[in-house]
Amino acid sequence: MSDLPEITPEAVDAAVANALAAIAAAGDTAALRAARAAHVGEASPLASFNAALRSVAPERKAEFGKLVGQARGRVSQALAAREAELAEAETAARLLAETLDVTALASRARVGARHPLTLLQEEVSDIFVGMGWQIAEGPELEHEWYNFDSLNTDADHPARSMQDTFYVDPVYRHLVMRTQTSPVQMRSMLEREIPIYVLSPGRVYRTDEYDATHLPVFNQFEGLVIDKGINMGHLRGTLEHVARILFGDEAKIRLRANFFPFTEPSAELDLWHPTFKGGARWIEWGGCGMVNPNVLRSAGIDPEVYSGFAFGMGVERTLMFRSDVQDMRDMAEGDIRFSQQFGMVV
Ligand code: DAH
Repeated sequence: MSDLPEITPEAVDAAVANALAAIAAAGDTAALRAARAAHVGEASPLASFNAALRSVAPERKAEFGKLVGQARGRVSQALAAREAELAEAETAARLLAETLDVTALASRARVGARHPLTLLQEEVSDIFVGMGWQIAEGPELEHEWYNFDSLNTDADHPARSMQDTFYVDPVYRHLVMRTQTSPVQMRSMLEREIPIYVLSPGRVYRTDEYDATHLPVFNQFEGLVIDKGINMGHLRGTLEHVARILFGDEAKIRLRANFFPFTEPSAELDLWHPTFKGGARWIEWGGCGMVNPNVLRSAGIDPEVYSGFAFGMGVERTLMFRSDVQDMRDMAEGDIRFSQQFGMVV
């Protein structure tokens, strides 16, 4: 076996020194595994010395055997010690990496926000309830009689056309998706005792385009008062009060003559505010007027004894100029980031 090394104390010490240096330099368990293979593995110098013992003269076998055995023992010990050291360091590093701050606040599911339209609708309702009014509701799928006929709307009135109104099949049942909250006026007159002071917030439907200023489904609030001696001054005073609560003391209103089938006289309601986006200006806010005697008669109320006023406003429109929302579609799309801008009012 000519390739086996000659065993000398120097050669064995040198092999041990190399092995210990490699073991000390091993920075992780993988490097240590490589050092073990190189310095005590099959092809290592120490393994070769072991093999070479076989050809050592018998009288020196004990001496060289001890030399090589001790050398292997030192390297094995160093390997075991380094292995323990590295294992400990790696465990410590892993624990550090997995550290959890048990004092940190638990991460919670993101809190949602109530929709600004709901908030505004509730705010408006509260104003009226605060004046002693009641909240009245009606169905969104409505009979044509309530939505149009009983409100003195001619059979050929443009609002009734297929272009504005969603008619529901079968046509002979005369059902529509209500185009306004005004049918709740008639329902209230038929169902309630006079005096009537009701506000009806709710959803309405029109075959409008979906764009920055129109939604095919939107919300209105409708007001109705029926009592003795009600005149236009009461209407004006009520609307002015509501405008000031909603928009601040500087808000002003004005009534401009207009036409609605269910009121006579009828007026367009405008709202003025000094800090509206784009400067102080008048904005169309809704419609109103004195309840038409024909409407009172449809409800079996004697117009010689009772009179009343009514008004109707769009909630989305109100939110637009109250909170400077540029695009109505933001109110319909349900992006939580839109709602969150309005805060967490409950
Ligand atoms: N219903 C009308 C609309 O949707 C608004 C309206 C006008 C309501 C005059 C009223 C009123 O109560 O008196 O355009």
